[in-house]
Amino acid sequence: MAHMEWTSDLDTGIEVIDNQHKRIVDYINELHHAIENSDRDEVGDVINQLIDYTQSHFTFEEEMMEEAGYPFLRAHQRVHGLFIRRVETFKEQFENGEDIARELHTVLKTWLVNHIKHDDADYAELVRQHTGADTAHNRGLFSKLFGR
Ligand code: FEO
Repeated sequence: MAHMEWTSDLDTGIEVIDNQHKRIVDYINELHHAIENSDRDEVGDVINQLIDYTQSHFTFEEEMMEEAGYPFLRAHQRVHGLFIRRVETFKEQFENGEDIARELHTVLKTWLVNHIKHDDADYAELVRQHTGADTAHNRGLFSKLFGR
């Protein structure tokens, strides 16, 4: 189990999305530290924060795709929904006292890298074209979803 580094092949070229993906990577690394420290409370907190933040990211991303007219929005939403269900199952197992943290950490890393490189990369060009001149709009959407 290793610390996860951000690499340029994870960039979508959409700054607001890249920043959100980087924050998710930070959470994955926080989970790694909590596991290494054998701090069960911290592991639980990070899992909750990670699910909340990832859900907000997915909602933001789906609104961007919808506005850009991305044709595979529904398929992408299904992938997001399945992933959230999978992580929530891990959360339930953790709350039932099962030792799933390391497996969850591996799943998160593998899934995220694969999803960003393939599914997110697929919408990136269209969204870049659509929103490239409208960063003020993106900031408004960001504030609405993340409350800042
Ligand atoms: Fe950036 Fe589709 O998650």
